[in-house]
Amino acid sequence: MRAWNLLMASALTTFAFGLAGCRTLPPSKPSSEWTPQEARGAAVFNQKCARCHYPTTTAPLHGPGLQAITKVKAMPSGAPPTDERLTAVILDGRGMMPATQLNDADLADLLAYLHTL
Ligand code: HEC
Repeated sequence: MRAWNLLMASALTTFAFGLAGCRTLPPSKPSSEWTPQEARGAAVFNQKCARCHYPTTTAPLHGPGLQAITKVKAMPSGAPPTDERLTAVILDGRGMMPATQLNDADLADLLAYLHTL
């Protein structure tokens, strides 16, 4: 009986943490700690992405909010948020998202910034 209670308690705890895990995203890196590259990437984001994406929430604007986009298992499309995949989405566009033209330096800065979200 005692063992059963313990088992149930740990199952419930696991369940509760599992639920919390769905909602609680890892924190973003505060702007005061950005590297120069991340700060340049933030400027690229503001110029090219901010009109359609919130960086600090997952709530949608024209596209999905991008908080923790590189830390989640899967992006809204279901694809893993690898740099390769992000680069393809950014340069080629996807669905209603237009392609964005970026040179290699701006792209690298933007990816560094996306990792801070
Ligand atoms: C004109 C609006 C618009 C702009 C500008 C825009 N996006 Fe998007 N974005 C969207 C829409 C709409 C989607 C959803 C596309 C879909 O899945 O059909 C999307 C999806 C995404 C996704 C999720 C992809 C996935 O696989 O689920 C990422 C990441 C993303 N955008 C990043 C960016 C970045 C970074 C920029 C700036 C370079 C940017 N977007 C510029 C509208 C935009």
